[in-house]
Amino acid sequence: VTDAGSIEQGTAGPSLRALVRGGAKVLAEAGVPSPDHDAEELAAHVLGLPRSDLVRQPDVPAGFAREYAELIERRRQREPLQRILGYAFFRHVRVAVNDAHGSGAFVPRPETEVVAQIAVDEAAGLVAEGRVPLVVDLCCGTGVIGLSVDVEVPGTRVVAVDLSETAVALTRRNHGACGSSTMRVEQADAGAPDTLADLDGLVDVVVANPPYIPPDTEPLEPEVRDHDPDLALYGGGPDGLDVPRSVVTTAARLLRDGGLFVMEHADAQGAAVRGIVESRGDFDDVRTLADLTGRDRMVVARRRARQHAAARA
Ligand SMILES: C[S@@+](CC[C@H](N)C(=O)[O-])C[C@H]1O[C@@H](n2cnc3c(N)ncnc32)[C@H](O)[C@@H]1O
Repeated sequence: VTDAGSIEQGTAGPSLRALVRGGAKVLAEAGVPSPDHDAEELAAHVLGLPRSDLVRQPDVPAGFAREYAELIERRRQREPLQRILGYAFFRHVRVAVNDAHGSGAFVPRPETEVVAQIAVDEAAGLVAEGRVPLVVDLCCGTGVIGLSVDVEVPGTRVVAVDLSETAVALTRRNHGACGSSTMRVEQADAGAPDTLADLDGLVDVVVANPPYIPPDTEPLEPEVRDHDPDLALYGGGPDGLDVPRSVVTTAARLLRDGGLFVMEHADAQGAAVRGIVESRGDFDDVRTLADLTGRDRMVVARRRARQHAAARA
């Protein structure tokens, strides 16, 4: 739509280009971060086209202006674009983010793609050695991390867990939509001592993006604050790290000796989360890694061989 003149003026009203420009202006005035992109994406959604095909759409179909105005208004009110579209992209998968009852799960973020990369690389390395890696995604939300491993590393077994009924339903649905293999999905507390107890000591990779925001750090963006579920945001305890602590405990139980643990956290939590993992005595090679913007984003560690822990005791 930025290609001036490539969309012809309709005879019965404003051109598509003019409508999209108007939509972008409304969004810009409301402080929406990417007004042009979002206005185009919403127009493409109404037309049932990829955004790149908008420039080839000469006409404004009947009813477009009204439907488009409704979606622009929702975005102006800072409803997330993905919630309005109903889906989000993450690495190589497209996932639904709203369930059949209109409830939403956490909208996946680009920074988590780097967390998923660590799990993908580890699983791919094991497959290259002729093994069938077992990967567990704790706090799976829409399932994006586990699904990425499942889709990108054929030959992997993936298990996903979330406490939220909505998240579990969406992970099952998303897996059904892109599923390359069978993925086990369970509704459970990631920190409960009996969660996935049948896999104790057998798992090659535990990956997690748990809730980790402290109670006094309300997100500034209305898209996050007002539309992501609180269960997905706030990690509990004064530092927001109660759920992450319980995930570390579960990872230590599930992982085989030498298995890999990777868990996302906020950029200010690197030292605190490293301390949680190191203080258990169950992990070696505990490191903080950054995301693509250079911010501390995840802890990575190897499960220490169990006989070492026994020998020290
Ligand atoms: C930040 S979201 C991450 C979702 C997904 N992994 C992603 O990266 O998009 C955190 C998820 O943890 C889930 N959750 C919160 N507490 C949990 C718990 N105790 N056990 C399992 N899942 C939990 C929430 O329902 C939410 O789906």
